Amino acid sequence: MSAICLQWLYETAQGMASIVEVGSYKGRSTHALCSGCPGTVTAVDHWIMMFGPRAGTFRAGALATFKENVGHFKNLNIIQAPSLEAVLTFKDASIDMVFIDGDHSYEGVKADVLAWIPKAKKLICGHDYHGATPGVIQAVEELFPGRFRVIPQTNIWAVDLEVKSGDKPETGKRGRKPGTRKSKERSPGSPAPRPDD
Ligand SMILES: C[S@@+](CC[C@H](N)C(=O)[O-])C[C@H]1O[C@@H](n2cnc3c(N)ncnc32)[C@H](O)[C@@H]1O
Repeated sequence: MSAICLQWLYETAQGMASIVEVGSYKGRSTHALCSGCPGTVTAVDHWIMMFGPRAGTFRAGALATFKENVGHFKNLNIIQAPSLEAVLTFKDASIDMVFIDGDHSYEGVKADVLAWIPKAKKLICGHDYHGATPGVIQAVEELFPGRFRVIPQTNIWAVDLEVKSGDKPETGKRGRKPGTRKSKERSPGSPAPRPDD
């Protein structure tokens, strides 16, 4: 994750009383969120290898590194579970911000957005809106046609939920072909502190 992405997470987190991050890995983005957020950041990850010959096996090393990098934050809550299991432990409209950076397949992103959006009050956003992960682009464009923004100089997509109820996703619609969309937001300043990784 780039320094500009981390800076945006850090600054955005400052306006949030509670955050859930889906997909934390070694804690790089978690560090930015915990540094900025005045309230609780919940990191959700199963820390299971998803690809290759060791697919399905527990990533003990990644979880240990995650704890080394961010375990000292007093505002961090860790849920070691699949996203769609973890979401069941949250009440609707109980989280200010949800940041999705877990399963990057079309089906995975769509399932995560649909599961977590009822829980989010202010903002739902996610990482890797770029050509290397077309499933992210397809899911976001299908669920939020014309309603999401991509943070300048980043590959973070975001949907503001406080503006009006029409920001909720529209299911059953086909999205446009993946393309680029840029908002007029100004770029952020210096990067947030983050773990060495
Ligand atoms: C790209 S990494 C996250 C990177 C992290 N946000 C950062 O910036 O350092 C994706 C993570 O999502 C986790 N993940 C993928 N699918 C998941 C799922 N369905 N439930 C929970 N965690 C998942 C993986 O274990 C992995 O650690």
